[in-house]
Amino acid sequence: MSGYRLEPVAAVGGELKVPGDKSISHRALMLGGIAAGTTAISGFLESADCRSTLEALRALGVRIDRSGEREVVVHGAGAGELAAASGLRASSAPLDMGNAGTAMRLFMGLLAGQRFDSTLVGDESLMRRPMERVAAPLRLMGAHIDTEGGRPPVRIGGGHALVGIDYTLPMASAQVKSALLLAGLYANGTTRVTEPAPTRDHTELMLRAFGVEVERRGSTVAVQGGQRLRGTEVRVPGDISSAAFFIVAGCLGAAHGLTVRGVGVNPTRTGLLDMLRLMGADITVTPVASDGPELIADIRVRAAPLRGVVLPPDLVPLAIDELPVFFIAAASARGETVVTGAAELRVKESDRLAAMAEGLQGLGVRCELLPDGIRIQGGTMGGGHIHSHGDHRVAMAFAVASIRCQGAIVIDDVANVGTSFPGFPAAARTIGLKLQD
Ligand code: S3P
Repeated sequence: MSGYRLEPVAAVGGELKVPGDKSISHRALMLGGIAAGTTAISGFLESADCRSTLEALRALGVRIDRSGEREVVVHGAGAGELAAASGLRASSAPLDMGNAGTAMRLFMGLLAGQRFDSTLVGDESLMRRPMERVAAPLRLMGAHIDTEGGRPPVRIGGGHALVGIDYTLPMASAQVKSALLLAGLYANGTTRVTEPAPTRDHTELMLRAFGVEVERRGSTVAVQGGQRLRGTEVRVPGDISSAAFFIVAGCLGAAHGLTVRGVGVNPTRTGLLDMLRLMGADITVTPVASDGPELIADIRVRAAPLRGVVLPPDLVPLAIDELPVFFIAAASARGETVVTGAAELRVKESDRLAAMAEGLQGLGVRCELLPDGIRIQGGTMGGGHIHSHGDHRVAMAFAVASIRCQGAIVIDDVANVGTSFPGFPAAARTIGLKLQD
C-alpha cells in the first residue's frame, strides 16, 4: 500500500501554485457536455476524480479532446433548441464515478431528465456514501431513481418528464443544490432550491456564463427549465482546498512567508481564511485580474502564534473540505478549539471527524469527538503512524502536521491523494516538507 514518511522540519516557505479547482473542473466538463458548441477549459484539474467525469461524459457520447497540458475542449452534445434536447446518449456500461461524490451527485441531476436509463457506480468509499439526499428531491420532480438502501449503485430510469419544485435543503450541500439545478434545466417550470446556509455557488456562476438565467433571492436560487446552454471559455483557478494545506503550513512554520499564487477566492469557499484569522493568523489576500466570474488572488501567509477558538458554526459550510487541515492548526494552537455544526464531515470520503480524531490522538493530541464536531486541546505533537482511511484530505492534513511534530510521521493508504491533488508530494517538498513517498 502506498504511503508517505515525513521527518519533522523547523521551517517552510517559498511560493507555489496549486492545481485547478476540482469543483469547477467537474462543472465545466458537465455544462460543456450539454451545451451547444465547444467549451475550452484551461487550468483543468488532471485528477482521478475529474477523469471519472470526463470518461463518463465520453461514454454518454460527448467528444472531449485534450488540447494541451491542463487544457480540454468539450464538443457539446446540446445541438437542440432546448436543453431538453441535450444530445447525450445512453452509455453501454454503468458509469464509474471512482471516488468522486461530486461527479455522482451532479450526474444524478443531469441524467434524471434524459430519455435513456443510466447506472452510476463508484469505488469502495463512494459505494458507502449517502445518495438519497439527491434521489429523494429528484423523485419529487418526477424522476425514477433507485438506490440500494440509500447508497449506490444509483439506477436512473429515463423517459420520465420532470417538473420544477420548490425545495428546501435539509443540509447545507452544494452537491444537492447543483444536482437539482441541473435537473431543473430539463424540467417543465421553475426549480427553486433554498439553502439553510450559503454553500459554494460555482454551478450558479457557471450556468450564467453558459447563457442560462439563474435567479438568486436571499437563500433561494431558481432556474427555469428548457434553457439552452452555449459553449464558452472556462478558466479554472487554483483550488483553495488544495492551497489550504500550504496556507496552514505557512501559518505554522513560514517565518519569512509563503505565497500560493492564482487561487480561487470565491467568498463561498474562503471560510478557512476567516477561521485562521480568528486564531491570530497573518494572512494577506491580493486579488489578481480574472476575466471570468470566479475571483482569483495570491494568498500570502506568515507564521504567527495561533490561539484556540470556538468556531462560529456558520463558517463550517464555507470551509467544509478544509476542516481536516484546520484541525492540525487547532492542534498546534495555544488553548482549546471547539468545532460544532460539522456533522457533514462524517459522510465525506471517510468519516473525517473520526479519522482526524484517531490520527490526532495517535500523535498525542488530546481531543474529544462530538456528534457534530470535535474539541481539540492545542499543544505539542509527537510522531506516529496515521491511518488515512483512504481519504486524500486526511492524508494531506497529517503531512502538514510534520511541521510541528517531534518525531517522524508515517501516513498509509495515500493513493487517493491523486483524486484531488496530483503532484502533492513534489509541491510539499517545494515548501520544505521532508516527505518521502
Ligand atoms: C462539492 C461540495 C461539497 C464538498 C465537495 C465538493 C461540490 O460537498 O465537500 O468536496 O463540488 O459541490 P457537499 O455538497 O456534500 O457538502
